[in-house]
Amino acid sequence: DQLGVVGVGFSGGQTKPGVDAAPAALIEAGLLDSLSNELGYTIHHDGKVHNYTEYIPPSDPPLQTAGARAPMLKALTVSNVTKAIADQVYEHASQGRLVLTLGGDHSIAIGTIAGTAKAVRERLGREMAVIWIDAHADINTPESSGSGNIHGMPVSYLTGLSKAPKENPEVFGWMKDENRINVSKLVYIGLRDVDIPEKKILRENGIKAFSMHDVDKYGIGRVMEMALEHLNCGPGQEGMPIHLSFDVDALDPQVAPSTGTPVRGGLTLREGDFICECIHETGCLVAMDLVEVNTIVEGVEHDSFGSMETVRAGCSLVRCALGESLL
Ligand code: ARG
Ligand code: MN
Ligand code: MN
Ligand code: MN
Repeated sequence: DQLGVVGVGFSGGQTKPGVDAAPAALIEAGLLDSLSNELGYTIHHDGKVHNYTEYIPPSDPPLQTAGARAPMLKALTVSNVTKAIADQVYEHASQGRLVLTLGGDHSIAIGTIAGTAKAVRERLGREMAVIWIDAHADINTPESSGSGNIHGMPVSYLTGLSKAPKENPEVFGWMKDENRINVSKLVYIGLRDVDIPEKKILRENGIKAFSMHDVDKYGIGRVMEMALEHLNCGPGQEGMPIHLSFDVDALDPQVAPSTGTPVRGGLTLREGDFICECIHETGCLVAMDLVEVNTIVEGVEHDSFGSMETVRAGCSLVRCALGESLL
């Protein structure tokens, strides 16, 4: 199988340095080697971890929107960089390659999903589903966000809940309907730190979300059955193309401590791997993002073990999504 790989060394969707070093750490840990040597993928990778400096404007002041709780941070930068990522991912996906993007903070999913959604529409004439594995819902609008960090907003742009304001068309004005997904084709798993305005957005839009409470209540096996059924990807169903966006902070900080916004009470390593295995089994996976691994995050910067463990966990998730556990 053909695998396109995009290394995204970008951290501008939040404020902590270190998440831009993750792609190199994951590759150094042998991730791509094992995908080609053990899983047999033909890898298309330019050998780079991109830092997108050519897309970063000289000045990008905080953007205050009317009625917003906090100004939007690095809006122009994130808009420009995610546009470039969308083009890179589209390039792979339009050639029928499965696309693996190694981030980077979660704002980059604006680009990856925009790129695959467009390619899937063109190639297959179909809409795409997104499975978003995360402690957070990342569905704030620029108005509802308390932090102004765009890594807390990607889903609102991808679903069209947020659009470029008339006064600032340069901020995500590049996104068109062909880049967007339908809220009914989105499923969350792992949520446990959702902002109050985000809960309202989830409710009002009827978005399917499995919190950690649901994982405890039903078990991860049943949660995956329900999630895939919702997306028409269950046994006997027709299936639809799936983009998996995996934020490593969905895992419990005991197994993945090196991330910018850790939240206790998360998925075990096996639950995370199991989610990825189930998605692989559907045969519907068209793209995967692995994001928010931060190799030098505050609190664990001197704990190279914690950082290594997080990288190892990330490698395991990707291998499982790409078929490692098949017997
Ligand atoms: N909800 C918070 C915010 O809007 C945290 C988001 C964390 N997102 C992430 N991709 N780790 O800032
Ligand atoms: Mn590249
Ligand atoms: Mn998160
Ligand atoms: Mn996230």
